Amino acid sequence: MSRAVWRVEPLDGADDPRFPHWYAQVAASMPYERPWLSVPSAAFLQARLRVQLFDRTTALVALDDDGEVVGAGEATVNLQGNTHFGWGDVQVAPDVRRRGIGTALVGAVEDVVRASGARFALLASHYPFAERETHGYRRFAEGLGYALDLDEIYRVLALPVDPDLLARLADEAAEHHRGYRVVTWVYDVPERYLASWIDVHNKLGSDAPSGVVQFEEDGMDATSWAEEVAQLRSVGRELRSTVAISPDDEVVAYNDLVLQDNGTGRVSQWGTLVRADHRGHRLGLAVKVAGLRSLAETHPDRTEVHTTNAEVNAQMIGINEALGFRPVAVHPGFYREIRG
Ligand SMILES: CC(C)(COP(=O)(O)OP(=O)(O)OC[C@H]1O[C@@H](n2cnc3c(N)ncnc32)[C@H](O)[C@@H]1OP(=O)(O)O)[C@@H](O)C(=O)NCCC(=O)NCCS
Repeated sequence: MSRAVWRVEPLDGADDPRFPHWYAQVAASMPYERPWLSVPSAAFLQARLRVQLFDRTTALVALDDDGEVVGAGEATVNLQGNTHFGWGDVQVAPDVRRRGIGTALVGAVEDVVRASGARFALLASHYPFAERETHGYRRFAEGLGYALDLDEIYRVLALPVDPDLLARLADEAAEHHRGYRVVTWVYDVPERYLASWIDVHNKLGSDAPSGVVQFEEDGMDATSWAEEVAQLRSVGRELRSTVAISPDDEVVAYNDLVLQDNGTGRVSQWGTLVRADHRGHRLGLAVKVAGLRSLAETHPDRTEVHTTNAEVNAQMIGINEALGFRPVAVHPGFYREIRG
């Protein structure tokens, strides 16, 4: 490694021979000083590079003069909805930081996002609460012209949750949603509920709080949903979707839990949403509690559930804290306008 000007190239998909080196950078950087993060399996990240229907991810490698991989990046552009922004992720192994590699990777991320026609590039990070104003990752982003968009808070729930607490919360909520059914589906959604299930999922983008960069409804359809499920199934990431079904037989609330496939015993809580016209029935609590009870039955070996929420989302945080989730870190989002 001999100079401070780095070449960045896209990987040629999941089968590029440099993929293992790219993955090694991600694995070295991501959990460094952030034990709450776990590295996705290589199989999952490869599957994501293969399935490019709903969004498209380009993996980027930073190379030194000898062609050695010294940093990893990803640029993701949305293909169905929310095409006005794209995401970047950059990871530099701790032993080669502060040499300009991260800066070079962000430049390449912006090139990909700009080429898609998007107006904003977004970056995300994680750091402890005590350093939220001063952390080096924040300084890095701000030094490249990014501003804070929205702080999410990363929370962890230790399993098992006391079954009596879950039973009590389920009973309290049930009083408020008589006539609704709450069920858990693993991977597959029955055909007659697919349209309303997709509709509530697409609303997560627009209904959850966003920052300066406003999110629209996502544009997932039955085809892209089928692709996503096939991808999760192919790597053994079990998707457990707990839903509330209204008296007129539509999915009007959901909570998704995804079992991580990296041997950590961790489960990720993805989205939770109650459709606006069905709020006030404690359905958000109901689907979360039912999801956890079902998980405890089928996977008693799982040790933690991880989730993030916008810091301003008081209602969702209230539900999570009632269940026992505890805050562990700040998960900030940064944005930069890359075309006028
Ligand atoms: C953030 C990260 C990508 C920076 O990579 P890097 O290769 O060290 O970054 P650069 O060398 O290009 O840094 C450019 C400038 O950013 C600032 N910066 C970067 N890391 C910093 C740190 N830890 N503390 C203070 N300032 C920092 C400095 O101003 C630096 O210039 P300087 O070294 O001349 O002072 C790397 O630390 C990392 O992988 N972190 C974990 C992943 C992550 O959070 N990525 C998203 C960040 S928004």
